[in-house]
Amino acid sequence: MDKFIIEGNTKLCGEVEISGAKNAAVAILPATLLIDGITTLENVPNISDVKIICNILEALGAKVSWTDEHTVVIDSRDLKCVNAPLEMTSKFRASYYLLGALLGRCHHAEVGIPGGCNLGARPIDQHTKGFEVLGATTSVSQGKISASAKKLIGAPIYFDVVSVGATINLILASVLAKGTTTLDNVAKEPHIVDVANFLNSVGAEIRGAGTDTIKINGVQSLSGNHTYSIVPDQIEAGTFMLAAVASKGNILIKNCIPEHLDSLSAKIIEMGGKIEDLGDSLRVSCNSKINPTNIKTLPYPGFPTDLQPQIGVSLAIANGTSIINESIWESRFQYTDELNKMGAQITAQGKTAVFKGVKKLTAAHLYATDLRAGAALLIACIIADGQSELYNIHYIDRGYEHIEDKFRKLGAKIKRVSE
Ligand code: UD1
Repeated sequence: MDKFIIEGNTKLCGEVEISGAKNAAVAILPATLLIDGITTLENVPNISDVKIICNILEALGAKVSWTDEHTVVIDSRDLKCVNAPLEMTSKFRASYYLLGALLGRCHHAEVGIPGGCNLGARPIDQHTKGFEVLGATTSVSQGKISASAKKLIGAPIYFDVVSVGATINLILASVLAKGTTTLDNVAKEPHIVDVANFLNSVGAEIRGAGTDTIKINGVQSLSGNHTYSIVPDQIEAGTFMLAAVASKGNILIKNCIPEHLDSLSAKIIEMGGKIEDLGDSLRVSCNSKINPTNIKTLPYPGFPTDLQPQIGVSLAIANGTSIINESIWESRFQYTDELNKMGAQITAQGKTAVFKGVKKLTAAHLYATDLRAGAALLIACIIADGQSELYNIHYIDRGYEHIEDKFRKLGAKIKRVSE
């Protein structure tokens, strides 16, 4: 197990290049299984979740090769319509996309109940309900979830809750179904639009991604020999924007889509930070005291739950009291106990946390409790007085590429140590 040792008190300044979006990559890689051909994906983030999916695709008979650090070629012509290996699929959350992709291509899919970060209950009833409307039968037993259909027939599906995963999974299951599927009350995150753009680029007919209703006209097949570049990671960009604020630094965030970060930019300005929109990059700085503010996490275009712990670090040192209301995940305040070890004054109960700003955080030994909490705690260690140690950093490696190198280039003093 690796850990980080971090020398604190650093003001982060310089440039950082944002990688391709984790949440788009973990959906688009399974989506290539729908293609009876070869696909080249560029701007793929080199992170552990992506490596696990590539291993799963290989176990299913696809040939996967990396032609450079961020380019993957997937040849799905010899796909075996077999069950995905349980020990691999149950390790991470996004393995549920194999259900939609394999159901679409093979009409049968079985994966281990998806694992991943512990953020509280993570039901997938909207996924299975959608598959059943298309004509599949689904079942859960012995730690596995399976879905089978003789034929998939397009139909209207109305989601009871707005779910990123269910929206993408039903797109995957319906692109090769017979007839038209209409998905209502869908999620609108940028990576959903990216999945739809990818599938359309290989011949799917998906309209309306990014709005409340998505319409999919089923096609007979998707074409190979195509190259697609994955969208920049909105959450990684937001993490560095918030690192600039918390450290009272000045960071040029290159290769991002500023529009995807509007809800965060508005909050940073409210908090006293400065944002310069340079088209495909953002400069974020903060010279003054951080103003307190209130946050409620919501589906896109609302404030992303995946940036909630990172903004929590800035609010922990704001000049007054802030409140965060977490409306998506029930256990997303575990990082606040860790910040309190550093002298923060945060009281979290249920879906609400009250942040009474303190002047300074002080070094401590901390445990990442999940991916985004890990990124937030790393920022806290970088700005705290003294030398901190951060454990459980495999969570961070799941979703951030070379995070310590990127922070080091901005002036942070971080060492990775293998124990
Ligand atoms: C995705 C993201 C995750 C992010 C989350 C919310 C990926 C790989 N992960 O997760 O990083 O935190 O969106 O933006 O893209 N729900 C149900 N039934 C379902 C599905 C979801 O009730 O069948 C509920 C969940 O309990 C949760 C809410 O809907 O309260 C949102 O979940 P969802 O958008 O599905 O999250 P994920 O796709 O798992």
